[in-house]
Amino acid sequence: MGKFLLIILLLETFSLVFFRAEALMCKVCSSFKRGHCLVGKGNCTTNFYSQCRTRNFFIYSPKDGWLHNHTELDCSALCLFENAYYEYLKISTFCCKDQDFCNKFHGQIMTEKIY
Ligand SMILES: *[C@@H]1O[C@H](CO)[C@@H](O)[C@H](O)[C@H]1NC(C)=O
Ligand SMILES: *[C@@H]1O[C@H](CO)[C@@H](O)[C@H](O)[C@H]1NC(C)=O
Repeated sequence: MGKFLLIILLLETFSLVFFRAEALMCKVCSSFKRGHCLVGKGNCTTNFYSQCRTRNFFIYSPKDGWLHNHTELDCSALCLFENAYYEYLKISTFCCKDQDFCNKFHGQIMTEKIY
């Protein structure tokens, strides 16, 4: 009887650890600029497949090169680290799943030093 109880206790501990490893809170913002979230502020929760995502949008100017326009924060399934170029637009994406709100520690937001 004692062994069964121990096993059940162990299983419950593992499922708790596992659940916590899966579900993470991430920052949501549809337009983050110069240290502030201007539009669409909130939180989201990841599941087994999704991660916290940070996307930095840059616009090319012939005079100054790539200038940061805004940053978007959300949760995303199939998040990929990449720099995508669309003519005068560049989107650099960061993904993370190591701690709650980890997407506020990536990309342009990091260099803005606001938190
Ligand atoms: C997001 O989560 C933080 C920390 O749990 C909480 O303080 C904040 O009120 C939440 N914001 C929204 C918009 O739900
Ligand atoms: C640049 O940011 C503004 C908001 O400040 C937004 O309305 C506009 O769509 C953004 N441009 C691009 C190309 O994402």
